[in-house]
Amino acid sequence: MVKLGVNIDHVATLRQARLETDPDPILAARICEDAGAHSIVAHLREDRRHIQDVDIVLLRKSIKTKFNLEMSISPSIIKIALDIKPDQATLVPERRQEITTEGGLDAERHYKRLTSVCDRLRQKGIAVSLFIAPDKKQIEAAKALNVPMIELHTGSFSRAFIRRGYEKELDKIISMTAYARKLGLVVNAGHGLDYRNTSLIARIAGMEELNIGHSIVSRAVFVGLKQAVKEMLSVIKK
Ligand code: PXP
Repeated sequence: MVKLGVNIDHVATLRQARLETDPDPILAARICEDAGAHSIVAHLREDRRHIQDVDIVLLRKSIKTKFNLEMSISPSIIKIALDIKPDQATLVPERRQEITTEGGLDAERHYKRLTSVCDRLRQKGIAVSLFIAPDKKQIEAAKALNVPMIELHTGSFSRAFIRRGYEKELDKIISMTAYARKLGLVVNAGHGLDYRNTSLIARIAGMEELNIGHSIVSRAVFVGLKQAVKEMLSVIKK
């Protein structure tokens, strides 16, 4: 079965709206794991708009499955990651003005910088993943950087799904998954996946793990987090 990584950033977003202690992302992570999630994803953004430094210290201690830290390649964030040692680091581009991670990392353009970042993370035993567009050049750059896995950005597919006429974007993800698998890379995917469009991505041959946040946390408002995670797992299974 394709695995599910739950991104808990938006639990922290709600907490930060009041700068209080509730809802607690650490408790959220535990509930997601109890519901069957295969990993927990959290993004320590440079502007600390949701997840805080103390959260990742506590998450590192409490997560029993796999802790996937999403992060930019800024030196201060890398230093924290090397200290915390998550199981996995997913390198993403970051712009302060964006509402969410809008595009994939340009692995080709930042190749030199990424070589040293990936090496440093690898030396600490952290598995490195690159969040990239479903694009041949990006996949080839990831392969050359010697990372074991990539996460394909499904944002364009998700937007096209709402508009209808998503087939071209879906085909791109299908063919780029096959291409990356041929090169020996583990392929994950995420961004904008929800209860209606996830099954199309989950059935792609060679797909390993889907990282989903906003739709699960949104659904949790109405049915509770445990139920929301279980429902997403059943979408993936079907
Ligand atoms: N994967 C990556 C690399 C992301 O940056 C995000 C958004 O934080 C997600 C997955 C989850 O996206 P969404 O919240 O739209 O499900």
